[in-house]
Amino acid sequence: MDSWSMIILLSCALFLIGPTSATLDTISANQTVKDEDTIVSDGNLYELGFFSPGKSKNRYLGIWYKKISYGTVVWVANRETPITDRSGMLRLSRDGNLQILNGGSTVIWSSNTTVSTWSNDTAMVVRLLDTGNLVVWDNSSRNQSVIWQSFDYPVNTVLPGMKFGKNLVTGRESSLIPWKSPDDPSPGPYRHWMDPNGYPQIFVRDDKVILFRVGPWNGLKFQGLLLANPDPFYKLEFVFNEEEVYYRFELKTSIFLRIHVMPDDTAAMLSWIDQIQDWAVYGFAKAKDNCGRYGQCGAYGSCNITRYPLCKCLVGFKPRVPDEWDKANGSSGCVRKRALDCRSGDGFKKISGVIFPDTRRSRYNHSMTLLECEMACRRNCNCTAYANSDIRNGGSGCLLWFDELIDITEYDEKQDLYIRLAASELVDSQLSFNKTKIVTAAVSTSSAVLLLFAVVYACIKKKRRAHMKERGNWYGRNKKINSVHIEDLDELPFFSLNKIAKATNDFSFNNKIGEGGFGPVYKGVLEDGQEVAVKKLSETSQQGLEEFMNEIRTIAKLQHRNLVKLLGYCIHGNELILIYEYMTNNSLDLVLFDEARSMMLDWPQRFNIINGMARGILYLHQDSRLQIIHRDLKAGNILLDADMNPKISDFGLARKFVGFDTDTKTKKVVGTYGYIPPEYAVGGRFSVKSDVYSFGVLVLETVSGKRNREFSYDGHNDNLLGHAWRLYRQGRSIELMSESLRGSCIDSKVLRSIQVGLLCVQHHAEDRPTMLSVVLMLVSEGVLPQPKQPAFFSEQSRAELESVSSVDDYMITLLYAR
Ligand SMILES: *[C@@H]1O[C@H](CO)[C@@H](O)[C@H](O)[C@H]1NC(C)=O
Ligand SMILES: *[C@@H]1O[C@H](CO)[C@@H](O)[C@H](O)[C@H]1NC(C)=O
Ligand SMILES: *[C@@H]1O[C@H](CO)[C@@H](O)[C@H](O)[C@H]1NC(C)=O
Repeated sequence: MDSWSMIILLSCALFLIGPTSATLDTISANQTVKDEDTIVSDGNLYELGFFSPGKSKNRYLGIWYKKISYGTVVWVANRETPITDRSGMLRLSRDGNLQILNGGSTVIWSSNTTVSTWSNDTAMVVRLLDTGNLVVWDNSSRNQSVIWQSFDYPVNTVLPGMKFGKNLVTGRESSLIPWKSPDDPSPGPYRHWMDPNGYPQIFVRDDKVILFRVGPWNGLKFQGLLLANPDPFYKLEFVFNEEEVYYRFELKTSIFLRIHVMPDDTAAMLSWIDQIQDWAVYGFAKAKDNCGRYGQCGAYGSCNITRYPLCKCLVGFKPRVPDEWDKANGSSGCVRKRALDCRSGDGFKKISGVIFPDTRRSRYNHSMTLLECEMACRRNCNCTAYANSDIRNGGSGCLLWFDELIDITEYDEKQDLYIRLAASELVDSQLSFNKTKIVTAAVSTSSAVLLLFAVVYACIKKKRRAHMKERGNWYGRNKKINSVHIEDLDELPFFSLNKIAKATNDFSFNNKIGEGGFGPVYKGVLEDGQEVAVKKLSETSQQGLEEFMNEIRTIAKLQHRNLVKLLGYCIHGNELILIYEYMTNNSLDLVLFDEARSMMLDWPQRFNIINGMARGILYLHQDSRLQIIHRDLKAGNILLDADMNPKISDFGLARKFVGFDTDTKTKKVVGTYGYIPPEYAVGGRFSVKSDVYSFGVLVLETVSGKRNREFSYDGHNDNLLGHAWRLYRQGRSIELMSESLRGSCIDSKVLRSIQVGLLCVQHHAEDRPTMLSVVLMLVSEGVLPQPKQPAFFSEQSRAELESVSSVDDYMITLLYAR
């Protein structure tokens, strides 16, 4: 061995010996933990010690996951008083105070515990439990009580088992305040807390105003909360009694799940995914849309994210300041059209599908029935509304409002609200209500009327198109295109038309490989030999410039092995062209639904396709905090590469789901019938759960090799979903599987896939799992939840839907009017 390698070896050894560090489990009074030491929880899940966040050099005492190399800090002690060097120490004083000392032995942070029962034999100890809770307790034989615990003082994270709420006896309240930035754990400008006044709710505020509210607990979950309950992975619990009020989640399986408040004002449930070695959003605490803002539509106004303007007055109310309402600003709220007259009798009007108004000044009684509740409200002239407080078992309990009703959002909630109205108002609204009902009934039953609508619609559409043509050709707005080019497309290569023409033999017919919603698709070979797919916007395309630019913007920054890769674009005069990587095996529908070719797809390949699609969609839904909803997932949009790996394509209809610009909401229902869920087809509401639905259809199609839309079966009229559901309930799910898979399949995996597919196509969006659950369910072994009946399971329901919703937005709005 020469001397150089000797020196290198020596210095390595020196470095390894370096600073002495110790791993402890428990420390007792007067013991200290130095900066380089750590305390590890008994089951090895969590670790406590000093750390420096991000780029900062400051030292903080914190708790993080031991098993996740990522350094996810879940609790910080001295978030406002960092130590600037490595001289910090943690000490447990004899009276049970946890203290952090700096190099000069000054206490810079203390848990401020005061022990009332103090005796000579107290033996204080501190220990990090495997729940991530740091607990100080007195270990003397007589008195083993908890003196202090970090779970009572959350920072920006709620861990499983942690109570988030208020102790009504001591007054101690937990709140979550985000870090200022990833480099700085000191308190940011937002505060999330549970307000126990009236009927408990969760609020988020900045230093001036309340920003968001998460509605009252309805027996299963908080209204408006986008976390499912029940869920296969966790259980939500809400406890409300004389001593405490809190909200808590517990894990059902051993995964890493936490609720985290971001440096902006959002809160999300995050789950650690080993396969991607990262945290993924399991669910948002609340939709951050325009209706999310507290009191967006003022008193007695209700907000609907799919409507423009967003605000509408409740039945029996009119805008307080009509001028403002005309300018689409409803924050001043509404006033009664007719004054109440309590003595000679008022009535109540039922309002369904809303998140309840603010309950901070409400009263409740859990043992009353709805009738008793109504009587209680009727008796008190100040009572403005009542409702069941619990939706379980058909509804129970009573909630009473005594104030203006504020912050009502139209949302798919199953709890009815009864608002007080003047008796005369009620008679009128009943009349007009019946009228709408008649119209709706006529529309949904009479096919003649539908036919008429379809004709009208076709005319409108023709007219519109003619109109477009008059304004010049479809995409001759070069100025706009150029500005988009400069702002959004810096990183995406630009191809000259010349180059594309050369690659595709001047867009020769022989190179044409398909026809998308967008226009023709050609195969091309670039000069360097790379095969590409060239998608050209045709002038007759139903998708226009908006979709084209949308696709570019959406996909330009996405990188995932299950998304087709956009290589570049070309804009030349009237030509709009996108260049993609070429997929040898074309699209899933051409393989799956072709008798001969489907033989090529054995079970492992199909399972790989199902998993790949799921991961691709998961990535879209969680792309760097922007949620992208594809909205047009179908077999024709799943491309297959040479190894039959699925890649999702066609982002023309995708929407970034953040902050919603008011004018890009779904004025039109777009998508492909057979793949879109009821709430979208009929109500125009789309969410990540619409994609989950489409994914479910894709799973069932992949397993069965049959198209949902064209499915037929001798025994009944159900479509593929209905057929799958029928078989599932009879315990014959395996019969759904395509014959050609007999030799290659693993029954348990097939059954699991079918069950996941059925869970995804359930009628109610909230019953459907998130994509993250789907990914986890597909790879895990645990017991899956039982699916409920799917949406659109029969031919008839589908036919009705198609005839109804191929009619444009006007018609849909009409049908949706309640
Ligand atoms: C402990 O008390 C001191 C003095 O009242 C206060 O400045 C500090 O913020 C308290 N520490 C905690 C963790 O509440
Ligand atoms: C607590 O006290 C018991 C005996 O009284 C002792 O065996 C145990 O080690 C103590 N625990 C800690 C964490 O010091
Ligand atoms: C709740 O209502 C029940 C039935 O009306 C009544 O007996 C009970 O006293 C009420 N409880 C409270 C706390 O008001």
